[in-house]
Amino acid sequence: MLGMLGAGSSAQAAADLELGRYLATECTTCHRPGAATAAIPNIYSLAESTFAEVMKGYRDKRLANPVMQNIASRLSDDDIAALAAFFATVKAN
Ligand code: HEC
Repeated sequence: MLGMLGAGSSAQAAADLELGRYLATECTTCHRPGAATAAIPNIYSLAESTFAEVMKGYRDKRLANPVMQNIASRLSDDDIAALAAFFATVKAN
């Protein structure tokens, strides 16, 4: 599927990665590894803090894209943290 996961450094981190991997199945229909385009940006290997800020920006509608606003509106802070942790571990290529 998405390549290797980094080993979690604690039980909590491992749980977050599992949740992130589960939630990411929705994202990867558009954001495919190694297939970023002008329309669909790369979201792999981003810093966790950057990733979380961007997702909250879409959720708060500070960032304008309606597709991502709709997706982010269904995510809790914990979901976003788990996705950020997961995608930070996945290489695009
Ligand atoms: C229907 C297609 C689609 C799906 C599904 C989707 N995205 Fe996106 N995503 C986009 C598009 C299009 C953009 C670019 C939006 C823009 O230009 O502002 C984007 C942008 C982003 C960005 C910002 C990247 C950057 O460098 O600006 C992040 C982070 C992101 N998506 C994460 C996710 C996550 C996490 C999921 C799953 C929960 C997800 N996306 C699901 C289409 C999608």
